[in-house]
Amino acid sequence: MPQKSIADAVREDRLWQRHVDLAKIGATPKGGVNRQALTPADGKGRALVTSWAEVRGFTTAVDAIGNLFFRRAGSDPDALPVVCGSHIDTQPTGGRFDGTYGVLAGLEALEAAADLNLVTKRPLEFVAWMNEEGSRFQPATMGSSVYSGANTLDAMLAVTDGDGVTVGEALPATIAATPRAAPRELGAPMAAYLEAHIEQGPRLENARKTVGIVTGIQGCRWFTIEVLGDEAHAGTTPLAARKDALRRALNMIAAIQDIMADDTDTVRFTVGRMEVFPNSPNTVPSRVLFTIDFRHPDLAVLTDLGDRIAAICEAKAGGQPVTVRETYKVPPTTFDARIVGHVREATRRLDLSMMDIVSGALHDAKYMNDICPSAMIFVPCEKGISHNEIENATPEDLAAGARVLAEVLIALANE
Ligand code: HGY
Ligand code: MN
Ligand code: MN
Repeated sequence: MPQKSIADAVREDRLWQRHVDLAKIGATPKGGVNRQALTPADGKGRALVTSWAEVRGFTTAVDAIGNLFFRRAGSDPDALPVVCGSHIDTQPTGGRFDGTYGVLAGLEALEAAADLNLVTKRPLEFVAWMNEEGSRFQPATMGSSVYSGANTLDAMLAVTDGDGVTVGEALPATIAATPRAAPRELGAPMAAYLEAHIEQGPRLENARKTVGIVTGIQGCRWFTIEVLGDEAHAGTTPLAARKDALRRALNMIAAIQDIMADDTDTVRFTVGRMEVFPNSPNTVPSRVLFTIDFRHPDLAVLTDLGDRIAAICEAKAGGQPVTVRETYKVPPTTFDARIVGHVREATRRLDLSMMDIVSGALHDAKYMNDICPSAMIFVPCEKGISHNEIENATPEDLAAGARVLAEVLIALANE
């Protein structure tokens, strides 16, 4: 009886059930997930994935920033591992698949190899990166940025959330949720990295393609702007006498929106957070903090428009104090052609429909691509909706992506 292929050993039912079970941790009433980085739910999710991995004899390790690794040994213990993965932290109103799919597809690939008793030369690993989303602690892709050396451990441990809690204060409880994880050296070398992810956009679904051959990721810049003014009575204070922080902030946002105008609809410009103090209907605001998320696939545009943001804020401040902090800056990424070729080949072997695609969303694979040959595999999500509790995908598409991932991992693990 010919041995089953690794792709045939991938089980759609098991992969789907893992998503159902993991989504219970941080479940929201609308059917989404709120499992933000370094919260108790994040720890519980990491513990559940660890329990599934340990049953199969996979070992676990955690590094100093909280990235959690799962390993299936190879025949050559000195060979660099082939690694896949993503993240299980979510947005506050997140979905069941963003990030989670890449971690569970990695688990499924290693389980399929274990089901076949497959011996690979290289160890196989999957990883749950710490704080990919960056919604509680900025910047995003924090854990993978420290692993790759793009950010220092100390600088990231000092980052605070909106309540003044630092990463360094929140991290120990999350690491304690998986007590058997051995220490893992930050930046330990890898032979290659793969990340399976839902597209988080509509292109695959519109084109009726099952697999996205991800050739790169667009560039992204995040800014946090704080504007100060003076509290004053809303009824008695003449407009001319006001130092209104919110009015200045809105003028800044309007002026930045003007330079971001783009009839090709390629620019992605989002003001996703705004804090107003004292946030009272009848007091003129004395402090406003707002964020900008600006993305573009062309480095020149990302540089030109992004570099103009601070000057616009100063020009629109009306002499009131304004500070502009850039908290995240990643240029467009081009993935390794050889690994992308493996993804394309495996997709062809499995007779799955495919199209090349550049990712609009950020991913940890960006930083992995800085330290080892990397690529990504996309599968469709319903109507392209993500960062939304109704995010959805089909068991068939999730399994198809996991089959491509498993095929590429095994091919690379025996190189
Ligand atoms: O923001 C992003 O692109 C990612 O989904 N966190
Ligand atoms: Mn993600
Ligand atoms: Mn996300």
